[in-house]
Amino acid sequence: MVYITRREQFSAAHKLVREDWSAEKNLEIFGKCSSPNWHGHNYQLFVTVKGEQNPDTSFVANLSDVSKVICKKVIAKLDHKNINLDVDFMKGKLSTTETLAVEIWKQLETSMQKLNCELHCVKIQETENNYVEFFGK
Ligand code: NI
Repeated sequence: MVYITRREQFSAAHKLVREDWSAEKNLEIFGKCSSPNWHGHNYQLFVTVKGEQNPDTSFVANLSDVSKVICKKVIAKLDHKNINLDVDFMKGKLSTTETLAVEIWKQLETSMQKLNCELHCVKIQETENNYVEFFGK
């Protein structure tokens, strides 16, 4: 089993707010990310797939194909968008990096199987100091 990773990047706006909480409680729990007039992050997305090497190419999967799938299913929907308002798979959800990782996994899982590999990890780096990884469960 060999693991390969493709990195993609996107810039997007969001805020972390629960409408059923007061502004004070949102600020207490979510800090600066609850600021009402939005803010942005330059996100880095690392998608790791795993599989056996193809005997003809020695590839697990063609990373160019992996990139095309990620761009079509995920990056095109997120880049220069508002995660809370514009992104179909994030509608009605808190735009935490955790939820983003889980929802991006759902967007990619089947498509990666069609490339004859298996999704292993969705990692999202929100800031230099914070990243989230999701392994499917
Ligand atoms: Ni934020």
